[in-house]
Amino acid sequence: MFEQIKNAAIGSNISDNCNLLLEMYHKDIVLLHTKNVAEKVKEIAEKYKLNSKWLDTAAYLHDISIVIPRNEYAEICYEYGIKTIAIEIEIPVLMHQKISALIAKEVFNVTDNEILSAIACHTTLKENPSKFDMALFIADKIMWDQEGTPPYLGEVETALNISLEKACLVYIDYMLDNDLYLSPHPDVISARKFLIAHSDN
Ligand SMILES: [Fe+2]
Ligand SMILES: [Fe+2]
Repeated sequence: MFEQIKNAAIGSNISDNCNLLLEMYHKDIVLLHTKNVAEKVKEIAEKYKLNSKWLDTAAYLHDISIVIPRNEYAEICYEYGIKTIAIEIEIPVLMHQKISALIAKEVFNVTDNEILSAIACHTTLKENPSKFDMALFIADKIMWDQEGTPPYLGEVETALNISLEKACLVYIDYMLDNDLYLSPHPDVISARKFLIAHSDN
């Protein structure tokens, strides 16, 4: 599996390899988004004293699954024994976080669980998320891959001055309050419970 990607992923610099792969597959929007997320996690890492090298790797690899067709996600998960739930089969894009983590491990030889975890939950977050999980999650939302400025940007940035937990909670609540989730993934709901319990107010 992933032979084509493996052949393209030459050299040891992960960010260069990611850029190269995304260019090769003409994924210009994701390429720009990835660079923006990498910039944002750098800022967050500094603010919250997190390992910036790990976060940089996580940022560059978080959406690398874009180079694999979505209709192959379910089969890949099955092949590698990755657990999926009904909503992910129904909405395959929800599996892209798991496929990116798999590529990080299988192609880029990433072994740090903190990095792999952050990639694997960057869309939904999860029960008891780590600071790394939250940092990548919120950077991905602040530097979204759509046109213009995210409608929640001001609120989330203000909350990010308080804590990572608060920023993630403000984002999730914005999505829920405005009915913007197609159908909330159970991990979003589990994460929210944790964030409520761990936010200052
Ligand atoms: Fe993503
Ligand atoms: Fe992303």
